Amino acid sequence: MTRHFLVDTDLSPAEQAEVLELAAELKKAPYSKGTFAGTPNADGTTTGQQTVAVIFDKTSTRTRVSFSAGVAALGGNPLIINPGEAQIGHKESVSDTAKVLERMVSTIVWRTYSQAGLEEMAANSKVPVINALSDDYHPCQLLADLLTIKEHKGELAGLVMTYMGDSANNMANSYLLAGVTAGMHVRITGPEGYLPADAVVQAAQERAAQTGGSVLITTDVAEAVAGADVLVTDTWVSMGQEEEKAQRLELFTEYALDDAALAQAAPDAIVLHCLPAYRGYEISASVIDGPQSVVWDEAENRLHAQKALMVWLVEKTAAGRQAGA
Ligand code: CP
Ligand code: NVA
Repeated sequence: MTRHFLVDTDLSPAEQAEVLELAAELKKAPYSKGTFAGTPNADGTTTGQQTVAVIFDKTSTRTRVSFSAGVAALGGNPLIINPGEAQIGHKESVSDTAKVLERMVSTIVWRTYSQAGLEEMAANSKVPVINALSDDYHPCQLLADLLTIKEHKGELAGLVMTYMGDSANNMANSYLLAGVTAGMHVRITGPEGYLPADAVVQAAQERAAQTGGSVLITTDVAEAVAGADVLVTDTWVSMGQEEEKAQRLELFTEYALDDAALAQAAPDAIVLHCLPAYRGYEISASVIDGPQSVVWDEAENRLHAQKALMVWLVEKTAAGRQAGA
C-alpha cells in the first residue's frame, strides 16, 4: 500500500511520533540518509528513484526552499514546477498526471487549492503524494511546528496550544488535527462563522479520545489563551482570498496575537507563526520579534521535518510492497 500524507491524521499518533523522532535525528545528521540517491526499489527497479516532483499552484518561499534543499540532501533531484507551468487540471486530468508522474518520480509534492484534487492524485499514484498546502490543510507545516515545540518544551502530550484568528482556514484545521494527534489540548478561537467545520472538529475529537488530548472551540479569546503553553496564529487573508482582503482585515481584529493576549498565556509560553506574517494585523511586531517567539526555528524545521516525512513515506511504501509481494 502506498503511503500518502494529505491530511494530518494520515499519520497515526505512533507514526507521527516516529516521523518527529526521525526529523530530530536528521537535524543532527543531515546527510545520513540517501533515500533518493538511486538505490534499487523493493521490486529491483530504479526508475524514478532520484527525482521528486514539487508542484506549485500557489506561491511559496519556505515550502519551495525546504523541499528543494531537503530532496538534495537526501541525494535526489527536486523538480520544481511553478504555477502555470504544468497542464494539471486545465489541459490534463489529475489522474492522467498521476499516472505519468509515478513512472518518473519517487514522490509527488503538491501545493494546490483543492483537497479533492490531492485525493485524486493519491488515488492514482503508486508513489507517495504529499500535501504541501491546500485550502483545507497544511500538514507539513504542522510537523515542523510540533518538532519546534518539542525542542522548546520537551514532551508534546499535555501541552495547551491555542490558535487564534481565522479559524476556518488550513492552518487552524491542521493545528487541531495534528495537535490532538500529539496528545495536546488544542484551543481554537475566532469569530462566529470563521471556526473549523464540524467534520474537522469531529475528526479531532475522535483522535483526542485516543491520545488524551482535547479540543476547545470558542469565540472567547480570554478563555482560549488563559495559561496556554503555545500561542499560534496565521494570516487573516490566505492565498485565494485576496478579493476579501478589506473585509477580512476588519473581521479578526479582536483575535490578534498581541502583547495583551501573550500576557494571559503561561509566563514561559512560546509563539509560533508559519509565515509569511503581517505585523500589525494577526500578530504584533512586539510578539513575533520578541523573546517568546520561536518562528525562525519553526521555519528551519520545515527542512528537517519534511526530509523525515519523505524518508518515512518512501520506506513504509517500499516495505508494504515487499510484504505484499
Ligand atoms: N509557511 C509556508 O508554507 O510558507 P510558504 O508559503 O512560503 O511556503
Ligand atoms: N493560511 C495561509 C498559510 C500560508 C503558509 C494560506 O493558505 O495562504
